[in-house]
Amino acid sequence: MAKNKVAIVGMGNKGSSVYRVLRIMESVDVVGAADLNMTTPGMMLVRRDRVFVTEDYEELVVKPEVDTIIVATGGTEVLERVQKVKSAGATVLEARSGSLLMDILQSKEELLDVKKLKGELWAILNSVQEAIEMADNTGLIKYVNPAFTRVTGIPEEVRVGKNIFEVSPHGALANSLVKQKPVVGYRSKVGGSGVEVISNASPIVVEGEIIGGVVVFQPITDILKLMDELQKSTTIIENLYAKIDQITGSKFTFDDLIGTSKIFQASLEMAKKAARNDSPVLLAGETGTGKELFAHAIHQASNRRGKPFIKVSCASVPEELLESELFGHEKGAFTGAVKTKLGKVELANGGTLFLDEISEMNPYLQGKLLRLLQDREFERVGGSHGAKADVRIIAATNIDLKSLVRRARFREELYFRLNVIEINLPPLRQRKEDISLLVDNLITKLNRKLGKKIKGVSPEALQLLANYDWPANIRELESVVERAMVSVDNDHIGQQHLSLYIGQFSNTQTISSTEIMALDKMEQIMLKAALMRYGETLEGKKKAAQALNISLATLYNKLKKYNTI
Ligand SMILES: Nc1ncnc2c1ncn2[C@@H]1O[C@H](COP(=O)(O)OP(=O)(O)OP(=O)(O)O)[C@@H](O)[C@H]1O
Ligand SMILES: [Mg+2]
Repeated sequence: MAKNKVAIVGMGNKGSSVYRVLRIMESVDVVGAADLNMTTPGMMLVRRDRVFVTEDYEELVVKPEVDTIIVATGGTEVLERVQKVKSAGATVLEARSGSLLMDILQSKEELLDVKKLKGELWAILNSVQEAIEMADNTGLIKYVNPAFTRVTGIPEEVRVGKNIFEVSPHGALANSLVKQKPVVGYRSKVGGSGVEVISNASPIVVEGEIIGGVVVFQPITDILKLMDELQKSTTIIENLYAKIDQITGSKFTFDDLIGTSKIFQASLEMAKKAARNDSPVLLAGETGTGKELFAHAIHQASNRRGKPFIKVSCASVPEELLESELFGHEKGAFTGAVKTKLGKVELANGGTLFLDEISEMNPYLQGKLLRLLQDREFERVGGSHGAKADVRIIAATNIDLKSLVRRARFREELYFRLNVIEINLPPLRQRKEDISLLVDNLITKLNRKLGKKIKGVSPEALQLLANYDWPANIRELESVVERAMVSVDNDHIGQQHLSLYIGQFSNTQTISSTEIMALDKMEQIMLKAALMRYGETLEGKKKAAQALNISLATLYNKLKKYNTI
């Protein structure tokens, strides 16, 4: 079909509206435009399209190929002139404001603008992260964006054309359509998929009439992720509180370590050297010789003072919990791991980790500890990536680790890593010359605690203390002196105050050689002696039970029976 060849006279606002509509019509071919002003926006557009332009409209309208001339100037003068000079076959139309032709052209132009807007809107809807769904006022779903499919897994072709009141009757969009009001922060599951979302929905109002509704939503998992982050931070804060509690616990320094004997001074010197160093330390010594006190003192005198000192007793934590106690665990790592917990290694970061009774650590954990010592790396239980911690390890043992290494019960590599600095704490029986000084110090301390004014120990009593071989060392000395002081009513501790506790067990007097007594009395004495030796803490009771060759439960039963607890 031949195209209608059009010439436009006048390229002001009206002319340019006419041109913008005609240029995209298939059946029309604009062959020229005329205006005195060659730089109106309309003229510029025509020139850009490489259409013929002229300042002289007569030149244009006389062209024989022109089928239609549209006059878009103001007055009637031009119109009349055009009618006169135009080529014979051309039809003249007047694009006057308010004329039918102009109205049609203008609404067509508006349509063009809407199309453009639609294109822009489309680009926006396609690129947003939020899922969007639109329905008309009967609930018929007209549109879903790509994010809708991404969030719900429901393809566009499955959703569009369904009715929202059938597929998602409890959702925000259905709600908003029913209420004819916006619905904000609505939590629900998207019908047709199990995805839980938070939505905002609102009616679409055109010229005062609700023509449909639109809903915008996000999956709740994003929000849950944030809540998870929050939970993690809360855990860190809780752990920090726990850490503060631990750090503010008692602090001992080298000044608290009493003893002038050569053998003890040698240990003290080693410990002071260790404090100037950052290598691992192994403290070896019998029970009650002061291993924990030394560990504190080394930390306090080291560069790490002011940073945490954290103790883990490998014997008191049940084996299956020790790993998480040391290295922490991720939420869900095992039943009962309801939240992420930092391990003592992380809590001690920057400071010192005191591993008491290291011999009790199982080979698997020994391996993990070795890696921490070598690479400063470890993993939380249930964790998937390595974490770093800078801790100085001080380990203590009252069992000879070398013999455990020989029996393949302790990893040799770890042993060599730990004993870079090995400090052997002498048992009290090897430094009896320190007993008098230790007792004097104890008396001063205990006078304050017990509100007494005891001045010292009688020579016979001191002799008795020196004769005893102190299997539980200073801890036992402390408890013997304290018990004695309670019963002293003058200003000196005498033999009679001590014999009750150590008399029967001293090297010179043994039970068998003294008296016959009822077995239950004997049992009471043994219980008392064991508690005195190992202390009344849980750890002490465990050791006491072990020494008496009974279970911890039996120990408790017997203590109850004799009313000792
Ligand atoms: N040199 C010392 N001077 C004064 N008091 C000491 C000394 N050594 C240890 N003590 C005291 O003796 C008691 C036992 O010390 P500590 O708990 O450090 O021993 P330990 O070697 O860790 O024993 P265990 O192996 O049973 O755990 C503590 O009350 C401590 O204050
Ligand atoms: Mg200890």
